[in-house]
Amino acid sequence: MGKASVILYITVGILVLFLVSYSPKKKSHHHNGGHNSQHHRLKLRSSFNFKPTRHDPIPFDPLVADMERRREDKEWERQYIEHSHPELAHDPAPGHESQPEWEEFMDAEDYLNDEEKFNVTDRLISLFPKIDVSPLDGYVSESELIEWNVQSSAKEVMHRSQRDMDVHDRNKDGFVSFSEYEPPSWGRDSGNYSFGYDIGWWKEEHFNASDANGDGLLNLTEFNDFLHPADTKNPKLLLWLCKEEVRERDSDKDGKIGFDEFFHGLFDAVRSYEEDNHNATHSYHDLPEGPAKQLFAQLDKDGVGYLSDVELLPVISKIHPTERYYAKEQADYIISKADSDKDGRLTLAEMIEHPYVFYSAIFDEDDTDDDYGLHDEFR
Ligand SMILES: *[C@@H]1O[C@H](CO)[C@@H](O)[C@H](O)[C@H]1NC(C)=O
Ligand SMILES: *[C@@H]1O[C@H](CO)[C@@H](O)[C@H](O)[C@H]1NC(C)=O
Ligand SMILES: *[C@@H]1O[C@H](CO)[C@@H](O)[C@H](O)[C@H]1NC(C)=O
Ligand SMILES: *[C@@H]1O[C@H](CO)[C@@H](O)[C@H](O)[C@H]1NC(C)=O
Ligand SMILES: *[C@@H]1O[C@H](CO)[C@@H](O)[C@H](O)[C@H]1NC(C)=O
Repeated sequence: MGKASVILYITVGILVLFLVSYSPKKKSHHHNGGHNSQHHRLKLRSSFNFKPTRHDPIPFDPLVADMERRREDKEWERQYIEHSHPELAHDPAPGHESQPEWEEFMDAEDYLNDEEKFNVTDRLISLFPKIDVSPLDGYVSESELIEWNVQSSAKEVMHRSQRDMDVHDRNKDGFVSFSEYEPPSWGRDSGNYSFGYDIGWWKEEHFNASDANGDGLLNLTEFNDFLHPADTKNPKLLLWLCKEEVRERDSDKDGKIGFDEFFHGLFDAVRSYEEDNHNATHSYHDLPEGPAKQLFAQLDKDGVGYLSDVELLPVISKIHPTERYYAKEQADYIISKADSDKDGRLTLAEMIEHPYVFYSAIFDEDDTDDDYGLHDEFR
């Protein structure tokens, strides 16, 4: 009898013992609270995709975020091997390893749904003081919740950038040079990629703009900015993003954006900028193009009748929403759902009263409220 079959027999034995000792308990569990826990089964997200099509909800609970991150890393690794090293994907060895991965994930999900191990009330009690920090007053305000979301999304984004960097940094010096960089396969394979990333993205000008200190190499901060230019503080890169926007919108190829090019495309993205700055009552509603004309004129600082790259700077974060934008959307959504007394902020009691609002990002898909529109907003 080989070593492998001994291990197999032992494993099966342990499994049988496990089933025998646990199944009666599981049954009684189902009789008591089965209905409720079925309804609120928490799921880890599993939507990792090389070609991002929508903004994922930001994880609220760092413990869940950590589980999802580990799971995503494995999924990423699997897809990376399939994309970049198909010769390895057919090797039996990596396939063999995929079995325990799946089990590990099931364990994590079971853990989340075991009320004795993962008690959402206790989680909220322990997280509340970490969110209620400025000011520490017993309330979670919109801005505190935004800040909390911003921090956790920044952590996720940086983790993914680090992961990408490890792949691109071939000589392992902690920097990515332009010759080391290879655009993502979905940007490279299809010359006609039509989601706006087909013109200047991942090219040398984009790379150079991300290189804040101009040393020809991207460190992790610069590389993260390169991947997420909308969130950068680097003015050179923000200007590149505006230039890129002009290139993509400029249908008559005159190098600038005329009113028609603005009206058919940009205006809808930018109009919320106007709402932020002005009252809802406008005197120029008689013309359908009135608000667009008004906004165009406002952006066209030099008044020549065209928008240049620099003139798009004040609205570039409307065209390319930042992580902070999504953090605010999510904070507002959560507050609107959990704020029982409608005072615009949350107490711990309100949070405990609506625990699944905070864990909605990992709701089971068939647990759909009629107003469960959160996912649509993040598309
Ligand atoms: C969860 O924790 C709260 C507060 O500590 C407690 O009252 C409740 O019974 C716990 N629930 C379970 C299922 O253990
Ligand atoms: C891009 O699209 C054009 C016409 O739509 C087509 O002729 C061309 O072959 C496409 N190029 C690639 C790389 O798919
Ligand atoms: C990018 O910068 C390098 C110098 O670091 C320069 O040689 C190259 O021409 C620049 N490329 C573009 C497209 O600006
Ligand atoms: C990367 O370089 C920039 C300067 O261009 C610096 O501000 C930043 O701290 C560096 N980041 C890391 C992770 O070293
Ligand atoms: C908005 O409207 C209020 C009253 O309706 C007015 O007091 C305020 O000045 C207006 N703000 C702007 C920016 O027009």
